[in-house]
Amino acid sequence: MSSENESASKHPAPKGPDMRVTIAGVELASPVIAASGTFGYGVEFEDILSLDRIGAFVTKGLSREPMAGNPSPRIIETSSGMINAIGLQNMGVKAFIEQKMPRIREIPGLRVIANVFGFTIEDCIAVIEALNDAPGIDLYELNASCPNTAHGGMVFGTDPALLGELVKATRAISTRPLIVKLSPNVTSIGEMARVAADAGADAVSLVNTFLSLAIDPETRRPRIANVTGGLSGPAIKPIAVRMVYEVSKAVSIPILGMGGILKAEDAVEFMLAGATAVQVGTASYADPRAVENIATGLRRWCTVRDIPRVSDLTGGLIL
Ligand SMILES: Cc1cc2nc3c(=O)[nH]c(=O)nc-3n(C[C@H](O)[C@H](O)[C@H](O)COP(=O)(O)O)c2cc1C
Repeated sequence: MSSENESASKHPAPKGPDMRVTIAGVELASPVIAASGTFGYGVEFEDILSLDRIGAFVTKGLSREPMAGNPSPRIIETSSGMINAIGLQNMGVKAFIEQKMPRIREIPGLRVIANVFGFTIEDCIAVIEALNDAPGIDLYELNASCPNTAHGGMVFGTDPALLGELVKATRAISTRPLIVKLSPNVTSIGEMARVAADAGADAVSLVNTFLSLAIDPETRRPRIANVTGGLSGPAIKPIAVRMVYEVSKAVSIPILGMGGILKAEDAVEFMLAGATAVQVGTASYADPRAVENIATGLRRWCTVRDIPRVSDLTGGLIL
């Protein structure tokens, strides 16, 4: 593990509830994190919200080479969420390190989680090896769950043997803790979490988007050029909370929960179900300040209820 993520507290104990949580030895000022693919490379948001008030941000998925993504239309709104098939458009790991990391490193207190994907295990290893040499990154999140690409992504996340192989190989060369992002498009997400944990994952995050299809009745065509896309937002929240709960029964490594979080109470639900931290994705499309507002709201929620440490919420579900 590199020295910058050995978490001698970047965040002194504040007055009021203690909002700090720890993921695989990395301390975050708040459990509320900006999710991958909905927060750019972080720096785009520095004039919009206080980046030091959020727990961390997750970069757009980074690949070995730059990727243009899928053809448009690739995002549509649904009645309670959105479907996207961006197809993992990104600038590539090398450009990210050279063009974005210098500025990101100047932002005090900002924790950085680099989201990694590839079409083969070798691709993922190459991305992580490039990131290993870049200072200022705290954790890796391995996307084993994208529903919008023909190869890799969800193929890894829905096959237990492949997932185990991928996690084992990538963990072996990672110099930072590895969070494995799980696909919800499986029968037993608890089993997949167990496979990831047994292969060496330091934490798991869930859920990625649900494979979905929207059709325009007039044209009889799919609304998304890729035909299918991933459903996110409030529509998926109760399913995601159930999955976090199942995973919390299956593994003892930390869980980062997400799926449809719009407000502080939603974050509390995920934590009671077993999450140590939460991520906020689609909400940032409606309100770019959503992540900060949810972090502030969660602090208030704890203050009003005299909860001394937000981490006390984790696994607090009463049956
Ligand atoms: C437009 C868009 C792009 C996304 N891109 C990525 C990505 O590159 N890597 C990844 O792991 N997840 C990606 N996701 C999934 C989100 O990080 C998150 O897992 C999912 O949207 C559920 O959370 P939400 O309902 O709060 O959005 C993307 C989601 C959206 C809506």
